[in-house]
Amino acid sequence: MSGANLLISGGTVVDPAAKREVRADVLIQDGRIRDIQPTIASSNGLRRMDAAGKLILPGFVDLHVHFRQPGREDKETVETGSQAAVRGGFVAACPMPNTSPVMDHRGAVEWVRQEGQRVGLIDVRPVGALTRGQQGAELTDFGELFDAGCVALSDDGKPLLNSLLMRRALEYARVFDRPVIQHAEDTCLSSGGVMHEGLVATTLGLRGAPAESETVIIARDLALAERTGGWLHVAHLSSARSVELIRQAKRRGVRVTCEVTPHHLSLTEEAVRGFNTLAKVNPPLRTEQDRLGLIEGLKDGTIDCIATDHAPHTAWEKDADFDSAPFGIAGLETALGVCATALIGPGHLTWSQLADRLAAGPARIAGLTDHGLAAGCPAHVAIVDPAAAWTVDPAAFASKAKRSPFTGQRLTGRVTTVIRHGLVVWDANA
Ligand code: DOR
Ligand code: ZN
Repeated sequence: MSGANLLISGGTVVDPAAKREVRADVLIQDGRIRDIQPTIASSNGLRRMDAAGKLILPGFVDLHVHFRQPGREDKETVETGSQAAVRGGFVAACPMPNTSPVMDHRGAVEWVRQEGQRVGLIDVRPVGALTRGQQGAELTDFGELFDAGCVALSDDGKPLLNSLLMRRALEYARVFDRPVIQHAEDTCLSSGGVMHEGLVATTLGLRGAPAESETVIIARDLALAERTGGWLHVAHLSSARSVELIRQAKRRGVRVTCEVTPHHLSLTEEAVRGFNTLAKVNPPLRTEQDRLGLIEGLKDGTIDCIATDHAPHTAWEKDADFDSAPFGIAGLETALGVCATALIGPGHLTWSQLADRLAAGPARIAGLTDHGLAAGCPAHVAIVDPAAAWTVDPAAFASKAKRSPFTGQRLTGRVTTVIRHGLVVWDANA
């Protein structure tokens, strides 16, 4: 693929590989980054884009989204999901297989990939199911799914509880050098829980799911990863204790990676007060201590990446009573603003650390090579205005999900332009 020639001038390049932020111009030719220098002279036939005051980041990669196709086109489609993704600064996203039918066979995976290509905004890289129908009883055909283009396998939405199957899954996926993504939840412990088990749940009279429903599965899976040498990736961490378990395992050399969502980095169980279904999500928002533990893990690299777990639902479903409403937050379009506000503003992370967790880290896990801001790389770029303050208005989302716990919140930091293969796929000012 090739794009027009473009000179992005006057911006600050945030390169996570170089771990720094430098004032530089970026020259894009034939869909690739050609040069990055303090100043590059404009020449004939070169389109110039003024990025004064802006940050130039590698395009973001979302390891965990739900695009709901096939089957729940009323919630989201590959098309509307892709539109939401580019608005959020993402150039690639990995849709989870809890669709209807489940993405547990070649046909579904290939259809989603092709639909992503037809839409043409982002790189759609599906995650295939671990077990047939996500029933947890029989492993899928890993060879077929990886051959069809899956970047990983997962039963996300549900955990894989059978320890023997989990062991076999880690052994089998190891042959393909790809991760098994676990939705870590002991559903016996969390059974019936609709929020974090704690003071707020007690006050509201809602059934809680304890943090241990996450940690016991992580502890088991780390033991299995250690035993098999397989690659475990833990989805959406929600508790400080989970971070600690993974930190220790990484020190022992266990092959484990993990992710955290923008909502777990910015909200706590307090957001549920008033029976706010917009904050109903699985795993649940937990305590301030958990939130700070997650930030610490993100900072020290225990947590490899931020993934949105973009989980769109219809308004009529989210507007139900708390027990009936589905779990899930539509997070693609607020991810950068929420992360910048919660992490950069208070000084927890630098921009290059944030760029690493939103782009380089997830790209590595998804196996997207050449993803960065270096001469020769495909030109996948997110341009961010770090000072832009804006108010979240879900009515303006491209996603079909028009509900968000961040509604009305003032955020600082906004994606203004997204370039993929040298082409502008999103421009906030257009
Ligand atoms: O909140 C969630 N929503 N958590 C999940 O694990 C599944 C997801 C969904 O598919 O809606
Ligand atoms: Zn999910």
